[in-house]
Parts: sequence; structure tokens; C-alpha cells
Amino acid sequence: MHITENHIKSILEKKEFSKEDITVLLQADKVQRQLIYAKSVEIKEKYIGKYTYFRGLIEFSNLCVKDCYYCGIRKSNQNSERYNLSDEQILQAVAFAHKNKYGSIVLQSGERSDKAFTDRISNLLKTITKNHNGELGITLSLGEQSLDVYSDWVQSGAHRYLLRIESTNRDLYYKIHPNDAAHAYEQRLEALCNTRRAGLQAGTGVMVALPFQTYEDLADDLLFFQNFDVDMVGMGPYIEHSDTPLFGVKAELMPLIDRFDLTMKMIAVLRIMMKDINIAAATALQAIDPIGREKAIRVGANIIMPNITPSENRKNYQLYDNKPCIDEGADDCTTCMEERIQLSGDEIGYGLRGDSPHFFNRGKSL
Ligand code: 5AD
Ligand code: FES
Repeated sequence: MHITENHIKSILEKKEFSKEDITVLLQADKVQRQLIYAKSVEIKEKYIGKYTYFRGLIEFSNLCVKDCYYCGIRKSNQNSERYNLSDEQILQAVAFAHKNKYGSIVLQSGERSDKAFTDRISNLLKTITKNHNGELGITLSLGEQSLDVYSDWVQSGAHRYLLRIESTNRDLYYKIHPNDAAHAYEQRLEALCNTRRAGLQAGTGVMVALPFQTYEDLADDLLFFQNFDVDMVGMGPYIEHSDTPLFGVKAELMPLIDRFDLTMKMIAVLRIMMKDINIAAATALQAIDPIGREKAIRVGANIIMPNITPSENRKNYQLYDNKPCIDEGADDCTTCMEERIQLSGDEIGYGLRGDSPHFFNRGKSL
């Protein structure tokens, strides 16, 4: 398709984008994409302000019952050394976040839904809420659970939930996941709906530039976020992991730099479409470009998740190859991030929870 600058300009003037419009925007070249970024920057300033919020990310366990074809901690990967932090280690990392004025934390792990696990999370949530007087925003990213479990976690102190749909194209979903009951697309969608029903700020996202993924698929993903009226989105480039089945089709992939550029356009177009949601600058961006996350902040993202997992465990939470910040400690990432964000021109919302404005604006026309 031959795309002209005027075509991009005329799309950017519209109030609503069609699937075709988005498909065109995602194919903008290096010059044309500046028009998209100019618009997304303007919208971010108007509706979000020049603030970036920190979430201290604690990857507390890589034990996982799922077998996703792309993921380095899938249960069949025998090369992954398994770990599970103690409650004490988790609470210590949480205290670090609070002391350093991170307004929020994210508890993430491989997926489990056994009662020992879900009860443990409830207890941790209660302890964190008590220890820090409810001052920390708490996001969970613990996979598919029942509505009862999500509701219990809300009662215990959770505010938000991240559950990436990974791809909204059902056929593509089954190319990257086993086609079985444990990985059913409908179940994931239902779980996402249940996070909302339980009263959580609902976050989802996709991987960008997956093998076999088209621009149309990505346009559908963005429209899905809009139709679902999601509060938060995290999208990162797909990066192959050598111990996974999907590594076998790496010949199908775009060069890394193109995957990076496409993710940046996805973020900018989403910011234009959904003005007041929280958009995370995914860590995977930094696996490709050393200042990848800051670049994402510049074009529309407003959330960054410094890794505060104890250093010795980080190397074992390898979802993809070249994951950054593996050798750093929590202190290192904090200082490093602070300098980086300032370079991007934003201020850090220290001590603020940085909830999704969209969650509170729902139903209002902006
Ligand atoms: N490349 C990029 N992102 C990945 N994730 C898992 N494996 C990979 C990979 N190989 C992402 C998934 C998941 C999130 C925690 O990490 O989107 O939801
Ligand atoms: Fe971890 Fe810079 S963010 S070292």
C-alpha cells in the first residue's frame, strides 16, 4: 500500500478511527510517524500531564502451570530454574518501594490457581495494606482466576489487575498457545471480564510483531481495548526465547528494530484513541533499545515498572531472551530510571498511586 502524508493527516483529524485507518497509521514510515507522535504527545499532555508513575515490579515466582509457546518460564521448560520468594522477601521488596516513594507495586508470577496460592496472595495483600496504611496502589498480574478469587483479592486490598489477552485474533491465539482446556481463548476473555466485575481497574495488552500477526490483527487489538473500555494497557514487542517452541518459527519475524518501531506506533495510536488510560512502557522495549522505555514514555506511555525483584532471582524470570536489568539491584534500577525519565521530559509522580484516570472518568465524554 502506498501511504501519503496527507492520508495520515486526514486520518489523524478524525474523532474515531476505523480498522482501515489504524492499519494505515501502523504502516506510517519514519517521516510520517512523526505526525502520529506529535498528536499522541499533545493528547498525553492534555489528559495525563507530564507525569510518569512508578510501579515497583516484584516477580515473586516463576512456577507456572501454563505452557504458552512463547514464554521462557512455561512449565515444560526444563532449563528454567524455578524459585518462589518467601513472604518475607516479598514484603521486604514492598517496603523498599514504599520507602522510595513508589506510589504502587505490581505482584507478578507464573500462573497458579490452587488454593494454597490464592490464599497466600490474600494474606500478603492484607499484610501489605496493614504495613503501609493502605498507601500503596496494588496491581496483581497472576493470570486467570475465578471471579470469587478476584473478589477476594479486592476485599484483601488489590486495586488493579493485568491480564494480557496476548492476541485478540483467536486463530493466532492458538498458534501461540496449546489448543487445550488450560489455554482456552474464551476462558482468558472471561477472566478479563471478571477482573472488571470484581471491581478491579482492568488492564490488558498484547504482544506486538508475533509470528503470523498482521497489521489488521493489531488494528483489531486496539479496537478491542477501546470496545472493552479498558483502564490500562501494556504492550511490548514479542522477543523470541531460545527454549520455547515458537523459537522454531523465528524466520517469520520482523527484524528487532521494526518490532520496536511498530510497538511505538501501537502505543501512540492507542494514546490517541484512549486519552485517559494508563499505558505502560513495557520492559521488553528495553531488550531491543537501551532507552526503549523512555522512548515509549515520550510518545504516549505514562507508567514504568522498575524491577525490584531481589537480584539473585531476576535471571530466572526470563520470559524472553536479553531481558534487561538482570544484574542490577533495586536501588540501581531506581536511580537509573529516575535519570532516564527526566531525560524523557516527564516528572515522576513520587508518592502518588497514579490510578488510571479512565477508571474514574468512565461514562464521561472527554
Ligand atoms: N516476548 C515478549 N513478551 C513476552 N511475554 C511472555 N513471553 C514473551 C516473549 N517471548 C509477555 C506476555 C505476558 C507478559 C507477562 O510477558 O505478554 O503476558
Ligand atoms: Fe534497571 Fe536501568 S532500569 S538498570
